[in-house]
Amino acid sequence: MKAPLLEARDLARHYRVAQGFFKPKATVKALDGVSFKLEAGRTIAVVGESGCGKSTLARQLTLIEPPTSGALLLNGKAATATPEMRRQVQMVFQNPFASLNPRKSIAATLDEPLAINTRLSKAERREKIELLAAKVGLRSEHLRRYPHMFSGGQRQRIAIARAMILQPGVVVADEPTSALDVSIQAQILNLFMDLQVENGTGYVFISHNLSVVEHVADEVMVMYLGRAVEVGDKKRIFAMPLHPYTKALMSATPALHAADRRERIRIHGELPSPLNPPMGCAFHKRCPLATKRCAEDAPLLREVDGRQVACHEV
Ligand SMILES: Nc1ncnc2c1ncn2[C@@H]1O[C@H](COP(=O)(O)OP(=O)(O)O)[C@@H](O)[C@H]1O
Ligand SMILES: [Mg+2]
Repeated sequence: MKAPLLEARDLARHYRVAQGFFKPKATVKALDGVSFKLEAGRTIAVVGESGCGKSTLARQLTLIEPPTSGALLLNGKAATATPEMRRQVQMVFQNPFASLNPRKSIAATLDEPLAINTRLSKAERREKIELLAAKVGLRSEHLRRYPHMFSGGQRQRIAIARAMILQPGVVVADEPTSALDVSIQAQILNLFMDLQVENGTGYVFISHNLSVVEHVADEVMVMYLGRAVEVGDKKRIFAMPLHPYTKALMSATPALHAADRRERIRIHGELPSPLNPPMGCAFHKRCPLATKRCAEDAPLLREVDGRQVACHEV
């Protein structure tokens, strides 16, 4: 059987943090054992509140940081930070104002990866850049310009072009539309989707916005405090979320298609600190279904109704 394009196996990243001069260091379990498989041309969306470990996951997937434990496989091979692996997994960041070098023209920004990673001539590189620029909606006179001359949406198009220029197998996009005006978010999402159809790229699409997720995802992974609580097919999960946390996220997004058919679940309180996570299920203190068992015993992901859910009560 063919290996998946990208596979995470029990990926974890813990940070040692100082708590003050006289206190011992503590461990933040920012990412605490996440597994998924991604196929070419497909999108897995990662959702969850701020602080649940989405960006930490993105840094592991893009080899920006090595995981504390677990494995990452690209086309079935252990992914290590070699130039070829880096070429194969590219990232688009949330903030297009910070992710582009202000001193480089757009042409230079797009040329750099090609000059470093390919043997193409200058003319061949230029041709590739013009072609891709047109696909992301930039005109050739834009290429001479510098990032400050563009709007947020245009900058994100440039960042997407930069991520795509080497035709990577995987693109990890970390909240790529959340810094943009609502009016241009849909254009950027559509651009992602068009480029995916054309190139067969696999996307890990991180977002806290469920309307965005519903638009782009094939699969969904809902995260809570460094772990996945529900993983599976987007249509199935949106049609009938099972984990109480997924239900709560969905009932907080009234624009979702099926929201009117759904019971409303509200969650109270804040995401607990991953420095001091609750015993048992990490969600139990905010969960309307919690029982004594949930306070003692952390649920593992198991198959329920065609997806994976980590809850004792479903
Ligand atoms: N370098 C780091 N050192 C210590 N703690 C970190 C570091 N990076 C992230 N964290 C902590 O890990 C948790 C998850 O953060 P992050 O991955 O940024 O979440 P998200 O992207 O979902 O908002 C947070 O509690 C955050 O404070
Ligand atoms: Mg983040």
